[in-house]
Amino acid sequence: MGTCTSFGMILTGIIAMTILSLSSTAHNITLILDGRKQFSTFNHYLSVSHLAEEINRRQTITVLAVDNAAMNELLRKHLSIYTIKNVLSLHVLADYFGAMKLHQITGRTALVSTLFQATGRAQGMSGFVNITNFRGGKVGFGAEDNDGVLDSFFVKSLKEKPYYISVIQISKLLSSSDAEAPTPAPSAYNLTVLMTKKGCKLFADLLAFHADVEKTFESNIDSGLTVFCPIDQAMRKFMPKYKNLTTDGKTSLLLYHGIPVYNSFQMLKTGNGEFNTLATDGTTRNYNFTVQNNGQGVTLKTRISTATITGTVFDDQPLVIFTVDEVLEPRELFKVKQVRTTAPAPTKAKKSEEAPAEMDDDSYSPDSAPEDDDVVADESEGWRVMSYGGWWWPIVVSVAAAGATYF
Ligand SMILES: *[C@@H]1O[C@H](CO)[C@@H](O)[C@H](O)[C@H]1NC(C)=O
Ligand SMILES: *[C@@H]1O[C@H](CO)[C@@H](O)[C@H](O)[C@H]1NC(C)=O
Ligand SMILES: *[C@@H]1O[C@H](CO)[C@@H](O)[C@H](O)[C@H]1NC(C)=O
Ligand SMILES: *[C@@H]1O[C@H](CO)[C@@H](O)[C@H](O)[C@H]1NC(C)=O
Repeated sequence: MGTCTSFGMILTGIIAMTILSLSSTAHNITLILDGRKQFSTFNHYLSVSHLAEEINRRQTITVLAVDNAAMNELLRKHLSIYTIKNVLSLHVLADYFGAMKLHQITGRTALVSTLFQATGRAQGMSGFVNITNFRGGKVGFGAEDNDGVLDSFFVKSLKEKPYYISVIQISKLLSSSDAEAPTPAPSAYNLTVLMTKKGCKLFADLLAFHADVEKTFESNIDSGLTVFCPIDQAMRKFMPKYKNLTTDGKTSLLLYHGIPVYNSFQMLKTGNGEFNTLATDGTTRNYNFTVQNNGQGVTLKTRISTATITGTVFDDQPLVIFTVDEVLEPRELFKVKQVRTTAPAPTKAKKSEEAPAEMDDDSYSPDSAPEDDDVVADESEGWRVMSYGGWWWPIVVSVAAAGATYF
């Protein structure tokens, strides 16, 4: 009886701790600013620009808020919502600065990266904010592209949740000609140009060559698109295999590198599991891959290859482009590697050898999948362990969501 009670108490304790620790990482910037009339304009524009969602998704973050008077100064410039988003994203620091830390910056000055920097839209150093401690406890802020002028100052702390989120008021918006420059709507971005600039020239060239594929990617931007572009080194290594594919195969391979939903890095980390791609035929479970955490990183696993996300080319909801270190090879186009050490059963091995290295989309039928699983026992074992290991994710996510709502 006593054991039973204490076990129950421990269990309750564990659940409470889990909810607490999850809820402490979940924050809602809209809610934090909600009761503060002085910041209603700033709060409104965080929401309509979708920056609020981005802020809520991130951990270890500082929001530099300004009052309605300061926001009105910005609104008088009649900038597009996309430009306003750039300006406000310069006011979200990718580090935690509570009032205490602000006044104790090592060396009295620091350059801090912002969400504007993370979008890939900032030129050079203009996505960084200079924070400097002056005499008499004054803390100044300035955009790095503001000629060293720090003309906005710390006013007060609005909310501190060490070391997840800090919301502080500064006296005026940071002035940055780069952030205020006219910016196109996400759908007006040229994917191939973005990729070419950040080390994915070969993949971009292939997209440009297959105009229909490029169009498919582009037509998905407005509703949300995640692209994984293999870096040139990986693509170069893969080219002999690529050239071997049929035209249909090439189209499918390229489409396989896009997911028709926006997924930030954080979302991929917390949403492990199987993902459909642009190559997925809506009627079958084909052309999928599995997203899995790997320490601090995220890997994409097909049955054939494993790629790791190595960087962000562009990230501005609804479009995000990541670089990956390997080409994603779908099982629908390539043979699963023989990994077993024992000799395979002759008939089955023969069958798998005869399987064409390249298949048309049509020649893949879901019925053949279980047979494949038999042939490569080791791989299918790993598959099962992997999906088993992932069963608790929906619970974590829903508890986290509940935390976000109630705490
Ligand atoms: C955040 O708070 C606002 C205002 O209370 C609410 O409308 C919104 O649904 C909340 N968002 C989340 C993700 O809970
Ligand atoms: C920040 O700006 C001040 C004033 O222009 C300058 O003295 C300082 O070196 C800058 N800090 C960094 C880290 O660049
Ligand atoms: C993207 O840029 C490339 C190179 O400048 C150009 O050939 C292509 O037509 C552009 N695509 C779109 C959709 O504008
Ligand atoms: C290309 O296809 C042929 C015939 O199926 C095969 O023998 C060859 O190994 C393939 N080359 C590469 C690089 O995959």
